[in-house]
Amino acid sequence: MKKLRIAIFISGRGSNMKAIIEASKNPDFPAQIALVLSNNPKAKGIEYAISQHIPTAIVNHQDFRNYDNPREEFDKKIDQEIKKYEIDLICLAGFMRILSSWFVNKWQNKLINIHPSLLPEFKGAHAIKDAFAAKVKKTGCTVHYVTEQMDEGPIILQAEVEIKENDTIIDLEEKIHHQEHIIYPKAIEQICKKILEN
Ligand code: GRF
Repeated sequence: MKKLRIAIFISGRGSNMKAIIEASKNPDFPAQIALVLSNNPKAKGIEYAISQHIPTAIVNHQDFRNYDNPREEFDKKIDQEIKKYEIDLICLAGFMRILSSWFVNKWQNKLINIHPSLLPEFKGAHAIKDAFAAKVKKTGCTVHYVTEQMDEGPIILQAEVEIKENDTIIDLEEKIHHQEHIIYPKAIEQICKKILEN
């Protein structure tokens, strides 16, 4: 069975990365994890990827601070790295860098992200905290294509999470992460199957 080659970009814990790696162990999963890339040399998820014998790359954004256009130079370096691994689809999973327009346009329709809210509600870096503070009754998570506007690309899959009266923010985080780990591999499966059929 032909499988697409995925790169997962992380900056920290990498629990979504782990869920995708686990899903990819199913022989019917239409993709293989060809690379895990991090901008943070200390990202916990990197250790796990290494333990799973998955190729890893670190491109530390701090090494680009003195360039005239640090964001684009960083993105060009990332692009060079992924070229080596013949990547078909990039999955952002807690990757805490905003990618340049150049990169986003180059990878249009092949670049997806997971966000911890029911987009378009609660965009931005504090989505769980913001939903909790707003005392909404439900929130959730969204897998979406990445476009130039942050958290605005077309939605691929969403899952709802109820906020119960006695839930703490920790409870809410756990519930959202649990759903993320279900929908991210599912969304990847959907997209890959679509690409493979065409
Ligand atoms: C997730 O909540 C994801 O929605 C957001 O960043 C978090 C990453 O968590 N973009 P992890 O590193 O996958 O555990």
